[in-house]
Amino acid sequence: MENLMYLDNAATTYPKPKSVYDFMHEFYMHHGINPGRSGYDATLETEEVVHGTRKMLTEFFNGINPNYLTFSYNASDSLNMIIQGMVEKGDHVISTNLEHNSVLRPLNVFQRDGWSDVTYVPFDDRGYMDPDEIKRAIRPNTKMVIMNHGSNVIGTVQPIAEVGKICREKGIWFAVDASQTAGAQPIDIQAMCIDLLAFTGHKCLMGPTGIGGSYIGENVPIKGTRHGGTGVRSAYPYHLDEFPYRMECGTLNVMGVAGLHAGQKWIAEQGLDAIHAREMALWQKLRDGLAGIDKVTLYCADSAEHHNAVLSFNIEGWEAGDVGTMLDVDYHIACRTGLQCAPLVHRQMGTEEIHGTVRFSLGPFNTEEHIDAAIEAVTEIAAIKR
Ligand code: ALA
Repeated sequence: MENLMYLDNAATTYPKPKSVYDFMHEFYMHHGINPGRSGYDATLETEEVVHGTRKMLTEFFNGINPNYLTFSYNASDSLNMIIQGMVEKGDHVISTNLEHNSVLRPLNVFQRDGWSDVTYVPFDDRGYMDPDEIKRAIRPNTKMVIMNHGSNVIGTVQPIAEVGKICREKGIWFAVDASQTAGAQPIDIQAMCIDLLAFTGHKCLMGPTGIGGSYIGENVPIKGTRHGGTGVRSAYPYHLDEFPYRMECGTLNVMGVAGLHAGQKWIAEQGLDAIHAREMALWQKLRDGLAGIDKVTLYCADSAEHHNAVLSFNIEGWEAGDVGTMLDVDYHIACRTGLQCAPLVHRQMGTEEIHGTVRFSLGPFNTEEHIDAAIEAVTEIAAIKR
């Protein structure tokens, strides 16, 4: 990894802040035991970090009750629990063409099995969906709108507060996939009328892989879909309905929670807005540099406003995958190519047939030098005579 220029932060941020590695190491050495299962001091101290992290994240998202901030493996895991716990036979669901497979695939199963119907709202040429399209798609049996906040393919950040308002007015549950935005964009569960929020820990929240979670509003009628150990009321024959147990099952990933804890502290110290502004300044430089190269097409990258530091492009005459291989082998630049697990985005943009795009995604530790190197590499590849 020494000489690697890492431009694949939408897949996972790398590296993490040193304080995250240090805290995880320290925590696991001294408190790496099972919280909430016994009453001895060490387990109570571990529980303090777990509950402390619930509180930190609840405040970060402006939630109300930390017990409703629950942990899972990642955003896909939470989105599965949200969809399976909310959608009932005969329900209609509204989503968008911007979704990742973590939303599409659970919904596709319901649709394939004739269980529920889904309407997918398209995005416009700039990569934004229009809240009025959601309004128009509402039917008498619409149960939930589920949509992503920031696209992992094109980086556009959607007007979720407006959609939340529509859902609240119409009495429809509103679920948000914040995989790409938690830690990068302000999220206010109350002001944005979000009923169910899914997040992952290993992207902009700067934690490790294997930890994610959700925040569920207290009045949301979500069914628990998992059953097992909770450490309390063991004689009761069924999984507990109360939160956080309804959404959690078995021993928690305490090491992951510790990483999230340290990641939260680091974001608070740096300031979310400052991190985002720095990344977007680099994104603008990258965008302008690539836009000036003959044969390069950028996708939905008009402006840094309502955008994350993600940039998709293609070079005329080249397969995205081949460009990715050249960037890796010849230039030591890591990026992601292909459909990025979001096939409907590519179907709508017409990039599905050409096997997707090349995606650069920036993180807090990228530098001007990385951007210069990426622009130079793409310039050289685009100039190759074929
Ligand atoms: N969803 C992640 C990405 O976009 C893994 O690369």
